[in-house]
Amino acid sequence: MSNIGSYEERLAGFDWSLSEKELGYIPGDRINIGWYCTDRICQMGMADKPALIWEGLGGSGRTYTFNDIRLAANTIGHYLQGLGVKDQDRVCLFLDKIPELYLGFLGILKIGAIAQPLFSAFGDESLLVRLENAETSVIITQRKHVSKVRKIRDQLPQLRHIIIVDYDGRKPLQERELAFSLDEAAPVEEFEVFPTEAESPSVLHYTSGTTGMPKGVQHVHYSLIAQYLTAKWVLDLQDDDIYWCTADPGWVTGTSYGIIGPWGLGVTQCVLDSGFSAEAWYRFIEKHRVTVWYSAPTAIRSLMRAGEEIVKQHDLSSLRHLASVGEPLNSEAVIWSERVFGKPFHDTYWQTETGAMMIANYPGMKVKPGSMGRPFPGITGVVLDPNSHEPIAEAGKVGLIAFKPGWPAMMRTYWNNEATYQAKFVNNWYLSGDRASIDNEGYFWFVGRDDDVINTAGHLVSPFEVESALLEHEAVAESAVVSKPDEVNMEVVKAFVMLNPGFEPDAEQELRIMNFIRKKLSPLAMPQEIEYVDSLPKTRSGKIMRRLLHAQEWGEEIGDTSTLEDE
Ligand code: WT7
Repeated sequence: MSNIGSYEERLAGFDWSLSEKELGYIPGDRINIGWYCTDRICQMGMADKPALIWEGLGGSGRTYTFNDIRLAANTIGHYLQGLGVKDQDRVCLFLDKIPELYLGFLGILKIGAIAQPLFSAFGDESLLVRLENAETSVIITQRKHVSKVRKIRDQLPQLRHIIIVDYDGRKPLQERELAFSLDEAAPVEEFEVFPTEAESPSVLHYTSGTTGMPKGVQHVHYSLIAQYLTAKWVLDLQDDDIYWCTADPGWVTGTSYGIIGPWGLGVTQCVLDSGFSAEAWYRFIEKHRVTVWYSAPTAIRSLMRAGEEIVKQHDLSSLRHLASVGEPLNSEAVIWSERVFGKPFHDTYWQTETGAMMIANYPGMKVKPGSMGRPFPGITGVVLDPNSHEPIAEAGKVGLIAFKPGWPAMMRTYWNNEATYQAKFVNNWYLSGDRASIDNEGYFWFVGRDDDVINTAGHLVSPFEVESALLEHEAVAESAVVSKPDEVNMEVVKAFVMLNPGFEPDAEQELRIMNFIRKKLSPLAMPQEIEYVDSLPKTRSGKIMRRLLHAQEWGEEIGDTSTLEDE
């Protein structure tokens, strides 16, 4: 029997107080995610149950019980307090998927500070804009990433401490740097959790938009109410599960469902800190007897490419429930997984801003391959007419996905950018920025984004950010960045570039520019192709018309060009 039982029955009379009650939270009381994920689980008698089964490169591994993660979070929290870190200070986690990332996250929350996880593959420029915007006071990192921090620290006067968790004493520490080793620190048994309340800020995740710099999506401790119940009903997490979320906590999936949801439920999860390979992934599932697996379409498509033979070489019979998020899950992938694993991937739809799943396919409910499913109980989801912003009643008609504000995990603002936050609402609907249609059974079908943001392998990349970085390259005079189709990653970044005089439009130049972006921003933001052009299509007001270049890449109709500069 699944946790949710009947979706239809859950819909009737749904109230989030159900989740509050299960968690023993009384409105108006204190609520702290760090405490809920550790102390509470220990108090419930699960202190010795494995919380984290971690595996690193080359097969190194380690298991932490709920009592271990409780102590580790206390120890990190205590250390940060000793450095003068106060509630609401921003503490950045800039780490690979090592245990300190997960334990540090909980420690930061326990002292009431704000956790700001950043993807460790980010280059110095990506890091700089996010630390600057958040006025981050502490960054926790590891030796292999510290050089990126050193490059930008002079531009970050508010950054007080750079903590290195794996310092080996070989090279001297530099200014503001500190060595902290979790294994060597004295474990802190008794710890007073900071008295955060429902609306106290918890996590700050940066996400890319079409214009302007990345935005800091600010969440609060009350988000737990939604993350807990969605993890329970959608991922169907149960007491004896071994859960694997493949996402990196640098992104919201890796925190909402790679830390908070499963540990709030007291469920054992495993983490693999190494790159993707079909062989390594199947071996991991087999070795740890993974039962619930939450992954992403790009990974699933990569597994499809690796073929069925390799699946047969592994015993994957432990798998009970599969789910996916981040980009459109094509029907082929659902049908394929049903054939080779004997179960379909259940698509889920949500965003950094929504903090928790909004639309999903539920255990026990018919999966329509290619559809995202139906809104979670308590969530009012509609598609709006793009002109009137009124809900569309007609089945199958495409509109803007929108939600009635007020679910527990909804972002509370964009950091330091209330105006952009307010612009996300119209007629008291939260606008997701995506388009979809709803069929006559209430299932949502994703159509596309309503902006120029590129979704490559489930990660959002702002064309504006890539264009800005390209301009910093000496060879580039002007550029326009759009997506182009890709079999595995769905979309990849493509740049149209006008070179400055004296630079050769050849393959070597292309590689130099690509590498420049990879190092400055990230491997995801790196254009997979650079097309040299003599001019770029612009509007009369001088704005580059990405829409035209996009249509060209996707073989779509170009549409209205009446505002083009040269016709
Ligand atoms: C955007 C949000 C929260 C999950 C990680 C991504 C796209 C997300 C789906 C899906 C089609 C999807 C949307 C959305 N997206 N899930 N199931 N089908 N598209 O969080 O980085 O904030 O990205 O990812 O475009 O707006 P994010």
